[in-house]
Parts: sequence; structure tokens; C-alpha cells
Amino acid sequence: MELTLQAPRLTTTECCSTSSEAVSGDRVICRCLNVTESEAQTAISAFNVESVRELGRCTGAGKGCMACHGRLRSLIKAQMGQ
Ligand code: FES
Repeated sequence: MELTLQAPRLTTTECCSTSSEAVSGDRVICRCLNVTESEAQTAISAFNVESVRELGRCTGAGKGCMACHGRLRSLIKAQMGQ
């Protein structure tokens, strides 16, 4: 029997309760999981997110086709520099 450990995936509402609603005009940064830039930014600063993997745990971003990983990395890097 194989045992696989997985961190529970928080929903956007659990992780980013202050920004669960998409802000009008807010850019969707991950189309697969419909995560907006402001949701990602909120998670990055609220939970000191330092990697795409951590951001995925908080918001789900990047858990689909992975085409957004470069944008997510840039967003994390930009916010860490502030
Ligand atoms: S666009 Fe983010 S996983 Fe596909």
C-alpha cells in the first residue's frame, strides 16, 4: 500500500478572505484556476509566499497547465522586493 502525503489545498476564500471576489478590471493571472493578480498579491503578502508551489497551495494558481508559472514567479519576486 502506497501512502501519499499531500498538503490540504486551501480555497481562495480560506486563504484570501479579504479578496475572494475578483475586483472589477483585475487581471486574471492564472486562467486555469481563475486566480486574479490581486488575489495572488494578497496571498503573497499575507502568507509570506516565496514560491509558485506555496502560492498554489494558497490560491490554486499554477495547478493546471503551468503556463502562468513565469508570471507567478515574477509577481512573487516583485512583491518580495518591496
Ligand atoms: S494558466 Fe495557471 S495553471 Fe494554467
